Amino acid sequence: MHSATVSLDPAFVVGPVRRRTFGSFVEHLGRCVYTGIHDPGHPTADADGFRGDVIELTRELGVSTVRYPGGNFVSGYRWEDAVGPVEQRPRRLDLAWHSTEPNLVGVDEFMRWAAKAGVEPMMAVNLGTRGVQEALDLLEYCNVPGGSFWADQRRANGAEDPYRIKMWCLGNEMDGPWQIGSKTPQEYGRLAAETARAMRMIDPGLELVVCGSSGSQMPTFGEWERVVLTEAYEHVDHVSAHAYYWEEDGDLASFLASVVDMDHFVESVAATADAVRAARKQTKRVHISFDEWNVWYQKRAESRPPSGDDWPVAPVLLEDRYNVADAVVVGNMLISLLRNTDRVHSASMAQLVNVIAPIMTEPGGRIWKQTIFHPFALTARHAAGEVLRLAIDSPVHKTARFGEVAVLDAVATHDAGSGDVVVFAVNRSLTGPVVLDVDLRGFPGMRVAEAVTLSNPDHTWSATADDDTSVLPRPNTSAKVADDRVRAELPPVSWSMLRLVRE
Ligand code: AHR
Repeated sequence: MHSATVSLDPAFVVGPVRRRTFGSFVEHLGRCVYTGIHDPGHPTADADGFRGDVIELTRELGVSTVRYPGGNFVSGYRWEDAVGPVEQRPRRLDLAWHSTEPNLVGVDEFMRWAAKAGVEPMMAVNLGTRGVQEALDLLEYCNVPGGSFWADQRRANGAEDPYRIKMWCLGNEMDGPWQIGSKTPQEYGRLAAETARAMRMIDPGLELVVCGSSGSQMPTFGEWERVVLTEAYEHVDHVSAHAYYWEEDGDLASFLASVVDMDHFVESVAATADAVRAARKQTKRVHISFDEWNVWYQKRAESRPPSGDDWPVAPVLLEDRYNVADAVVVGNMLISLLRNTDRVHSASMAQLVNVIAPIMTEPGGRIWKQTIFHPFALTARHAAGEVLRLAIDSPVHKTARFGEVAVLDAVATHDAGSGDVVVFAVNRSLTGPVVLDVDLRGFPGMRVAEAVTLSNPDHTWSATADDDTSVLPRPNTSAKVADDRVRAELPPVSWSMLRLVRE
């Protein structure tokens, strides 16, 4: 039996828990939009065709921001196609996913959906096939009250008040050779800087996200950030980071340790941004928008777009089925995002519905939760106040990809108002439980209000539409407070939450 200790103190604070850490992503990809959020024939659909059951689960998931409309899709997107009377909107080829885009949902529909779901929109502009002018047109359409062409078009289309969208992504994954209109860092950095500068002439209060690397495995990782930020530093607020992990060749130990890479990613991008800040004699800091992250089995057949003459509408794409181990990794990624709250100011789990998603739907039919839904929903609901800097004393084990890795990983939050302390922890051991002791000397007089663990003797168990309840986070009855510490036994391959309140 392993044992590990976590020590925490109210004075050791990393930074605030940011609601934007719990963002998500809706892309025109596969069945995320069509038969995902939008399914007019569904019994719960509203007058706009949006599924009420999806909106309900989006709220239950605790989503704060939603990035839209892509992803790779945005790099070939003509946003004007999808405004105005629906029957006049053209159908277009979506080259990114070899699909047909019917343009039944566009910016106005999405903004109505976002209001209903209670989420903040995060809009992306196309810097693949388009440039400064089209970005300005979209911004004018969205944020200018009226009295100019595009603002008046929005009003004519039924949205009297401007949307006042604050967060904007300057393109998507422009470092990726798969991206329509991908660029060198010099080309992209220049275009991003010009676009950002012009967008601020319309709306100086925007928060702008420049594209960082599509993953830490990219050959240009690091250098891409350095060059792009050298071009655009003054004009942007965030640099994006994207990371997907999956279990490869049955190497579960390395997969469970994926956040070693995520932590390194954040550290490297922050260091690069700070180096550019110094070189360019800037005072502001550029923070990280981790606006795509998840488990994604990219090599599986369902991740491959259709080909040839087949250009379907809303095909089944990237519909990964997540097991218990995947949920543990997702919980661990949230631990990493919280622990890096001083540099990661925004994040979006990719994606929300059907496409590498916590929520799954049947067209016109049932809705169900994947395993990854639970750690996200519980972390979003209970992480509050400030993130604490922990001292973790954990045994280590060997992994093929990352060498020696701590078996236990954790983060804790402290809400000074209520006094609540919440510990989120994963046991990455494949074989044995970990007895976790949380040293509470800095927090006298606490009791366990809630202790839950997500695990299963068969970590390959996945939810289905017929059964999404067999592996829910269950009460962890081992959790007890004694002698200024809370002790809990965490089973192998598990994610846990311990919520402590004042007596
Ligand atoms: O989220 C799926 C895809 O992953 C997005 O379209 C793209 O940005 C990334 O490569």
